[in-house]
Amino acid sequence: MVTATSTYSTADWQLGYRSLTCEQEYWIPEIEGRIPTGLRGTLFRNGPGKLEIGSQRYGHPFDGDGMVCAITFVNGKVHFRNRFVRTCEFEAEEKAGRVLYRGVFGTQKPGGWWANFLDLRFKNPANTNVIYQGDKLLALWEASAPYRLNPATLATEGVETFAGALSPGQPFTAHPRRDPKTGDLMAFGVRAALNSQLFFYRLDAQGRLTERRNYTLPGFAFLHDFAWTPNYRIFFQNPMAFNPLPFVLGWQPAGTCLTLKQREPTRVWLFPNSGEPMQLATEPGFVFHFVNGYEVGEQLIVDAVLYEEYPALEPDADYLQIDFTQVPAGKLWRFYLDPKAGSVKRERLLDRSVEFPAVHPAHMGGCHRYIYMGATHAPGPNAPLQAILKLDTATGRTQQYSFAPRGFVGEPVFVPYPDSAAEEEGWIVTVVFDAASRCSQVVILEAQDLAAGPVARIPLRHHIPYGLHGSFTPQVWVE
Ligand code: CO
Repeated sequence: MVTATSTYSTADWQLGYRSLTCEQEYWIPEIEGRIPTGLRGTLFRNGPGKLEIGSQRYGHPFDGDGMVCAITFVNGKVHFRNRFVRTCEFEAEEKAGRVLYRGVFGTQKPGGWWANFLDLRFKNPANTNVIYQGDKLLALWEASAPYRLNPATLATEGVETFAGALSPGQPFTAHPRRDPKTGDLMAFGVRAALNSQLFFYRLDAQGRLTERRNYTLPGFAFLHDFAWTPNYRIFFQNPMAFNPLPFVLGWQPAGTCLTLKQREPTRVWLFPNSGEPMQLATEPGFVFHFVNGYEVGEQLIVDAVLYEEYPALEPDADYLQIDFTQVPAGKLWRFYLDPKAGSVKRERLLDRSVEFPAVHPAHMGGCHRYIYMGATHAPGPNAPLQAILKLDTATGRTQQYSFAPRGFVGEPVFVPYPDSAAEEEGWIVTVVFDAASRCSQVVILEAQDLAAGPVARIPLRHHIPYGLHGSFTPQVWVE
């Protein structure tokens, strides 16, 4: 039931978290609207496709097995394909028909604490992002090395070590950022511990690892994303406390052992391209995703989705029974960093629960005016993402298109018009779960006029479980 105070029904929302076990490929026979002329390429998406093994449901969807979808736009037609990422752990568990590994976020092996006692191995679900660089399609999960897939068939080819530069278990972020001038992909990895190891990587346009640097960060560092500018890499080290005992002793999954230290500042790290890192401080809070960062003279502006309270995971909670109004909401904030003065100022840009922010990729690391993101249907209490929202940071004006009450949106991906860097010249492509048909749709909106609604809705034969991240490449592998 949709009540007067909510824009959705929980039962509808829950339908988007069913596994999709079958792998398929087909041309989509009927499209509502028209595929824009000029939209040609492949949208790759990643997310948990399978949410249980045998009769055991994973404790958290982020532990679900990575399933990559390729949605190809070519000659006004659309082709769909999906495949699971066959990591070593996925293959072993498929064979055994039961959970063999602990998941980072909420999954324990069956058998109680004794079965999990001192077992610190995790499964790499390869479920967080997928990106095409050089001729490599990489499925990413931040605590381990990427898995390489065949971009045409999505078949898993193996762990990508970049000619031996990475060890197979080496952490590699799910959020690399591409320098629009060189095409290089900037990435990092973090091995969190009492003192944390931070690794910087750069992949060139051919997908070769051309740079690797190491740093030690004092304290526990949970870094999901970063901001990149031509002269800096910027990290927010949120004041997280990790109590390893319940995890090591097998009582709780690792993700439930994290808390935010409300009295300690967030450390803002600025790593210049050469020279020593600088450390600034701001109020406590948690950032999963940065929008973008850019330099203004000697200062930096960084936009991010900030959680003033950490959305903690309860060890025995059922994620399908989540009460959204009780979960901390991510809001859009702007941070002004002044390395010379050693100061950070911040302001909230928008009083709305949002996630999955995006900008025109040609503006990565440079000034952006417009931000596109998933948002709740309306301001007010936290709720699932049902709308695509655009903010003009120059005027503060917003525009949105909402799929409420029965639609639930995923990450918006900005696809520029061919050869255009103008900031509003592009399409927003997203996957929407439609509870009425119990299926997902690929939806295309004009970035210039979101409120006009979709220019095309592409209904799939099935649903795609709520996904995480993805990316677009103008290349196509089906004709
Ligand atoms: Co992310």
